[in-house]
Amino acid sequence: MDDAKEEIRARLSVEDVVGQYIELKRAGRNLKGRSPWGVDKTPSFMVSPEKGIWHDFSANKGGDIFSFIMEVEGISFREALEKLAAQAGVELKKYSGGNKRVAERKQRMKEILELSCRYYQFCLTKNEKVCDYVFNKRNLTKPTVKEFRIGYSPNTGKALVQFLTKKGYKMKEMEVAGVLNQYKGDLFRGRMMVPFIDSVGVIGYTARILGKGEPKYLNTPETLLFNKSRFVFGLVQAKESIRQNGFVVIVEGNMDVISSHQAGVKEAVATSGTAMTEGHLKMLSRLTGDVRLAYDGDAAGVKATERAIMLAGDLGINLSVISDYHGAKDPDELIQKDPKLWQEAVKNYRPAVDWLLDKYEENLDLNSGPGKREYANLAMKLLKNVTHSVEKKHYMQLVARKLDCSVDDLSENKIVETPAKRLKKANLEASSDVLAGIKDNLQAIVVYGGVTGVKGVEIPEDETRLTELEMIFEERYKDWNKLALEKEAKALLTRYKVEMGKQEVEMLNVELAKAEEAGDEDLQAEILRKIMVLKRG
Ligand code: UTP
Ligand code: MN
Repeated sequence: MDDAKEEIRARLSVEDVVGQYIELKRAGRNLKGRSPWGVDKTPSFMVSPEKGIWHDFSANKGGDIFSFIMEVEGISFREALEKLAAQAGVELKKYSGGNKRVAERKQRMKEILELSCRYYQFCLTKNEKVCDYVFNKRNLTKPTVKEFRIGYSPNTGKALVQFLTKKGYKMKEMEVAGVLNQYKGDLFRGRMMVPFIDSVGVIGYTARILGKGEPKYLNTPETLLFNKSRFVFGLVQAKESIRQNGFVVIVEGNMDVISSHQAGVKEAVATSGTAMTEGHLKMLSRLTGDVRLAYDGDAAGVKATERAIMLAGDLGINLSVISDYHGAKDPDELIQKDPKLWQEAVKNYRPAVDWLLDKYEENLDLNSGPGKREYANLAMKLLKNVTHSVEKKHYMQLVARKLDCSVDDLSENKIVETPAKRLKKANLEASSDVLAGIKDNLQAIVVYGGVTGVKGVEIPEDETRLTELEMIFEERYKDWNKLALEKEAKALLTRYKVEMGKQEVEMLNVELAKAEEAGDEDLQAEILRKIMVLKRG
């Protein structure tokens, strides 16, 4: 695989790859642009054509073309490799060696899914009844149908099998691609076909029955290509807008996504037929921190939102809820009424915590004792996920006011966070931007500034990382003299230690919680002593 990487690197320049996403201007030997993560006030994204490296000085990220595509598209290394290989005209098959069989099988699957998609698209144009459903009943336009590659699967039982057989594919191959039923006939029959498309192409389908009937939607089973806990429907089509406008809207249904795009809200995506997972959110969090949920206001919607809050806190996401559908049951229905209503709805969002607190209140009598108790429990459980101290205080006070009690009364019965959860947060802090930024600078000075005697800073061995550091050095410290560099290193090291100290305290707090749980008082005392020492110096 390293050979394939090298071959791709040789054929694609970093400025061309990055230039597809960011406008770059020359700045000396390097090129400069705006951070695709939207956190810079002045252009802080640098590209070094000579080194084949990029570094984002505002987001403290950097690397080569592969890591750039992974970050900016929110995809895995493998997917980035495939994407760039396609651009470079490099055939990965040739390089895959050990995994050759899997790679080949995947390739055949992709071909089958691409061909069947085209076949379904063709069948749509030939069937009046289906056209009526798609264009008149669902009110989709031709450009939308084209963009989302909507099609129709004939109802004859073997239409697709025959088509693919003629093209030279075996039953076994169709089976692993997920288009056959258990009797070796077409899985999808007489349905409107909506392909699942990711950055490498069609990976499966969701298929809607044209009238009433069960199941309403039939989905491709999980395959080598389709993993439903990672796939985000509509992301390929939405990515550009999400990045440009800095937010994403998560809706429940795939058809809601399509309608939303048609209504001009192109930031909509859905998790197809499954609950939101950490994988879904992680992928989205790479594109934006502003995630707006457009779920139903029913009990399932509340559960889904609570779940999302649990996942979001750890990823540094700002989660909010869009809920005013003017009586419509979902975004699609609202759009059918008037697309403008949906365009306004997505701008009319509330923090998810506020929305949930209101929901809790709806079903409880806050004038009664049990009602207050229940509300307090639900609210405290929810607020465990709010990590920022000021924000947390805000909500605690809000809840206390509602219950006509004090913040202390609330805290008395607070549900203790599990140590595992705290540990996770502590780890997260380790990768915080601040620390990453300090470390970047320190390492750059040590490696390229010739400053010696800086203890506790490890020297990376990875070639890409070293080149990145060189670029950071040139950008920040090129004209600095030795003395200034030494001073800077000292200052950075102090800050680094302070930040690390904060983290150590975090870790110790986790240990403390464990010791408390275990009732080990000696251990508690010892940990407390350590914390005191750290806090003092
Ligand atoms: P809904 O029933 O709310 O779908 O299910 P919808 O988008 O409003 O459907 P239309 O407008 O009647 O066509 C929401 C999502 O749940 C999954 C699908 O992913 C759907 O988009 N689902 C629903 C299934 O996977 N299978 C089903 O039978 C029903
Ligand atoms: Mn619907």
